[in-house]
Amino acid sequence: MPAPYGLLAEVTHQCPLHCLYCSNPLELRRRDEEIGTEDWLRVIREAADLGVVQVHFSGGEPLVRGDLAELVAEARGCELYTNLITSGLGFTEERAKSLVAAGLNSVQLSIQGDTAEASELVAATKRFDKKREAARIIVDSGLPLNMNVVLHRLNLDRLDAIIDVCESWGAERLELANTQYYGWGLRNRDVLLPNREQLAAAEEVYQRRKSELAGRMELLWILPDYYEPYPKPCMGGWARTALTVAPDGSAYPCPVAADIDTLDFPSVLTHPLDWIWAKSPAFQAYRGTDWMPDPCRSCSRKEIDFGGCRCQAFALTGDASRTDPVCTFSPDHHLVQDAVDRANETPGAAPEPVYRRPRAAAE
Ligand code: SF4
Ligand code: FES
Repeated sequence: MPAPYGLLAEVTHQCPLHCLYCSNPLELRRRDEEIGTEDWLRVIREAADLGVVQVHFSGGEPLVRGDLAELVAEARGCELYTNLITSGLGFTEERAKSLVAAGLNSVQLSIQGDTAEASELVAATKRFDKKREAARIIVDSGLPLNMNVVLHRLNLDRLDAIIDVCESWGAERLELANTQYYGWGLRNRDVLLPNREQLAAAEEVYQRRKSELAGRMELLWILPDYYEPYPKPCMGGWARTALTVAPDGSAYPCPVAADIDTLDFPSVLTHPLDWIWAKSPAFQAYRGTDWMPDPCRSCSRKEIDFGGCRCQAFALTGDASRTDPVCTFSPDHHLVQDAVDRANETPGAAPEPVYRRPRAAAE
């Protein structure tokens, strides 16, 4: 069995943003459920022993944790590549100094739109200026600035302007991630799912800007899977290349799997990471291809996409072992097609966005 390449260390679910597309589980872990520094340090050492090469510190907003630099230093001490995935809120000069001193290798900063108003509509937080400031601090600290924007119906038409912002802030790499509909994002699917024309126009912008920016800023386009004929090979296959440890120490083959309540996920508090990876029933459940039902079982693409995404199958059908409904061959494909048809109907009343917390409270 190959070793996992990456560990996603979700050190907290606390977050100052309330993004409509949030893929974190519906049930977020509270602050008092989070595992402590010593447990995280042990998890990092166990991950290195297991063969992990990269640790991505994520959340929520990982800067909420005061011990972040200590965790980064431990990972660097184990010769792991370290990446911080952040909203930028809380990325002060002081935090930057301590993270650079700890050996942090790179930062991925997210934005939600090209203006304060556009960002606020998606994240229900007025902090665009703080993100701009975070980008400046990251660049001044000598860290490579990677940026990420989740794309959807509310911001796809502004793609040119979004790319301009990232370029002007000094990004070396920009990930344009079309929304995946999990967790809270699935609840807002009718608000977020774009129509065909929007997507086609945005893809043209991506192609044009990719050539224009070649050698200065790398652009990546994460496919909008609802519009693809076949599903993505999610996570490179279940428990095949990476694992996630959630704030409370629960371990998952992917960051979204916590919502699959038909599996009993192990915890780093009760089991070592090598057992979790190699032996735990939850990690074994959909590994490889033996678990597959038809049509995947007899499909020539089963070693290419591994039947798609287990979390998407569960979220849409209640059974994580079914073929990903994105697939044209899936008996449940209508569940995706109906949503796509609605997104392409003549617009009526726009559906109301649902924030994780009432907007007033967030502000
Ligand atoms: Fe992939 Fe299964 Fe669809 Fe074949 S039937 S393309 S293996 S999801
Ligand atoms: Fe969990 Fe795809 S998001 S397997």
